[in-house]
Amino acid sequence: MKILVTGSSGLIGSEVCSYFSKHGHTIHGIDNNQRAKFFGPQGDTTWRLKELLATLPSFIHHELDIRDRSKVLRLLQDLKPDAIVHAAAQPSHEKAASIPFVDFEINAVGTLNMLESVRQTCPHAPFIYMSTNKVYGDGPNKIELTEFATRWDFANPKYKNGISENFPIDQCIHSLFGASKLSADIMVQEYGRYFGMATCCLRCGCLTGPAHSGVKLHGFLSYLVKCNLEGTNYKILGYQGKQVRDNIHSEDVARFIKCFFDAPQQGEVYNLGGGKDNSCSIIEAFELCEEHSGKKQVFQYSDENRIGDHICYYSDLTKIKSHFPQYCLHHTLSDTVRQMTEVIKLQKN
Ligand SMILES: NC(=O)c1ccc[n+]([C@@H]2O[C@H](COP(=O)([O-])OP(=O)(O)OC[C@H]3O[C@@H](n4cnc5c(N)ncnc54)[C@H](O)[C@@H]3O)[C@@H](O)[C@H]2O)c1
Repeated sequence: MKILVTGSSGLIGSEVCSYFSKHGHTIHGIDNNQRAKFFGPQGDTTWRLKELLATLPSFIHHELDIRDRSKVLRLLQDLKPDAIVHAAAQPSHEKAASIPFVDFEINAVGTLNMLESVRQTCPHAPFIYMSTNKVYGDGPNKIELTEFATRWDFANPKYKNGISENFPIDQCIHSLFGASKLSADIMVQEYGRYFGMATCCLRCGCLTGPAHSGVKLHGFLSYLVKCNLEGTNYKILGYQGKQVRDNIHSEDVARFIKCFFDAPQQGEVYNLGGGKDNSCSIIEAFELCEEHSGKKQVFQYSDENRIGDHICYYSDLTKIKSHFPQYCLHHTLSDTVRQMTEVIKLQKN
């Protein structure tokens, strides 16, 4: 197959390139290193692009901005790919508030540019969109919670497996990032239902793995592992550091995408994350990092939480597992932190 991946130098894009290349497919990647423009040198993904070019014989890079509608269409006319993974984005809620137009133009309009080009050139190709759990806004914060020694958890047994795809999306704070991603999410569903295309939104929890160029504003675990190894002070923002996230290794995301390409559906929506088993609070994440590095985490605490930040969120994986019973996660949270610790140590030496 010929697979087109946007955001191909980023965490998910690069993992998908690597995964499908190893399975014998030809990969075309689109990335313009916008992450460095968002976050400065620490967000620069050139190192990852160089790795892909050096290690994947079937990888072709296209330096292209997905906001450039005519160039996107021209590339799609040339390539007519068999499948598309759309992972390019402005990925941070806090950043979005300071660049609302850029955020919307990349996340919402950039996605529409991709969808429409695919519809005009290769309408039968399955299209995966990397959506986010922020489409549910801060709605999950309205669920009654129980406070434990190191984490918050849902008190209502209805949420014992986490947040499902039926959770409401209206009347809550999404952050501008959540709103631009939700606009794209709805458009991806619409192209599936209105035009009959094989589109899929993956509403993800925290995505992580050694390929992340983690920065303070995005890539929580990758950034935390770096802070731990460098002895940098990590600032906890509110909720006593007991806020819970579920974490999934980028390779487990790529493995699901393969399942979808093998059995595509139209306009589907799945919550995808590490689930309750791979969830942790910030202070539990400190413990994990310390376990693997042997270094104590330095931190400071501020009572001021991020606007709209989830207090407790983990993905209910019931739907995705029922549609794809053969799919399961290969990487535990502890294993992922170990891998990231090893890779970041190597990069520093
Ligand atoms: N990382 C997470 O925890 C997380 C959680 C939920 C959803 N997501 C979503 O998953 C997707 C991938 O996330 P990631 O962590 O790999 O992000 P990332 O920042 O590591 O990768 C995104 C890539 O897209 C590129 N890009 C950005 N704007 C572009 C543009 N205009 N044209 C071309 N390339 C552009 C960047 O340079 C970067 O390499 C995003 O859509 C993100 O919103 C991520």
